[in-house]
Amino acid sequence: MENDALDYCIENNITVLAYSSLAQGLLTGKFGPDHEFAKGDHRARNRLFQADNYQRVQQALDNLRPIAGRYGVSLAQLALAWLIAQPQTCSIAGARKAEQVLDNAKAVKIKLLPDDLEEIDRIGRTVSDHLDDNPVMWEF
Ligand SMILES: NC(=O)c1ccc[n+]([C@@H]2O[C@H](COP(=O)([O-])OP(=O)(O)OC[C@H]3O[C@@H](n4cnc5c(N)ncnc54)[C@H](OP(=O)(O)O)[C@@H]3O)[C@@H](O)[C@H]2O)c1
Repeated sequence: MENDALDYCIENNITVLAYSSLAQGLLTGKFGPDHEFAKGDHRARNRLFQADNYQRVQQALDNLRPIAGRYGVSLAQLALAWLIAQPQTCSIAGARKAEQVLDNAKAVKIKLLPDDLEEIDRIGRTVSDHLDDNPVMWEF
């Protein structure tokens, strides 16, 4: 998206609606390095949840934790606040439980400082720079 469509959307006043804003829960930090998904949980077939990508995500989450701590917010809220701070970008945040909806909704009130937005972007690239151009994250 950032590589081939985002600039066009910004220039032409087209809204970007991000789905999978929490990378299917990965950005909440609740899945540790040794997490094993239950049989049938399709997240195990998402490339972000596999091998080197997964380890890079864990490192990135460790780097994000102090930023979330400074704002007193959860990692999920930090991820969503960063996302909706991007130009012309809205977010669908998935949720399976009511408390997740309430937690995620609080992200709209978080105003991240420009330096922190840049730092979060830099941390995100330690993962995304290693991905290929295939926008489909699943290996079905
Ligand atoms: N991903 C796609 O390819 C796609 C395509 C089209 C439409 N959509 C729609 O877009 C919506 C979002 O998709 P997504 O599931 O990929 O969204 P997501 O926002 O990346 O991940 C949502 C999942 O993260 C976990 N979660 C959410 N909030 C949390 C919180 N505060 N604390 C801890 N865990 C939390 C929940 O899963 P657990 O509780 O199970 O961990 C939840 O189901 C869905 O309605 C989906 O149907 C998705």
